[in-house]
Amino acid sequence: MTAFTVRELSRTDTQALLAFEIDNREWFESHIEARAPAFYSSQGVAEHIDRYLSDFARGVWHPLVIEDADGEIVGRANLKNIDSPGHSAEVGYRVGQRACGQGLATLALRHLIEQAKNRWGLTQLVAYVYDDNVGSQKVLQRCGFLPSPPSQGDETAKERRFELALQAAQ
Ligand SMILES: CC(C)(COP(=O)(O)OP(=O)(O)OC[C@H]1O[C@@H](n2cnc3c(N)ncnc32)[C@H](O)[C@@H]1OP(=O)(O)O)[C@@H](O)C(=O)NCCC(=O)NCCS
Repeated sequence: MTAFTVRELSRTDTQALLAFEIDNREWFESHIEARAPAFYSSQGVAEHIDRYLSDFARGVWHPLVIEDADGEIVGRANLKNIDSPGHSAEVGYRVGQRACGQGLATLALRHLIEQAKNRWGLTQLVAYVYDDNVGSQKVLQRCGFLPSPPSQGDETAKERRFELALQAAQ
């Protein structure tokens, strides 16, 4: 079985990340919101990494990548909009089409949950998933997330909210 590592995003990832995002652009755009066209260039990805790392330094974002044994990026996962006073954050992840079905999103989400509890002291995680994204909903439920009932007036929304209550680290 191929070994995979989950690690923090780095400034040296620009070319590997650009290749990953270009290879999987259509795949991602069929499941999640499309990125701006300017993102798909060395400069666009370098700026994106700078922004994520500066948000990491400010404690509002925790960006991770999943790497295979050859050092290729095969997936990404983020703790987003970390709200330290509110002890909550949102999770997001994406796995390259060829690497899907091997448990990588589950591996990355478990890693995010550990970081959320032990590094950031969070007590709640949320995720937003399109109704027809069955694979992602399976990943969330396997990691303990529960679907929230739609709020009033929001019954026709295409996105569904999932929540996970965490036990704060002792
Ligand atoms: C959703 C996504 C992250 C899943 O990544 P992954 O590494 O394949 O996930 P895992 O292997 O950990 O688990 C996926 C599970 O869903 C199942 N699954 C995937 N698509 C499915 C579908 N259409 N119907 C039913 N089950 C499905 C898989 O079989 C697997 O379950 P299993 O382990 O019991 O076989 C990946 O498909 C992806 O990146 N999609 C595009 C971006 C995206 O949707 N991100 C999430 C936004 S909320």
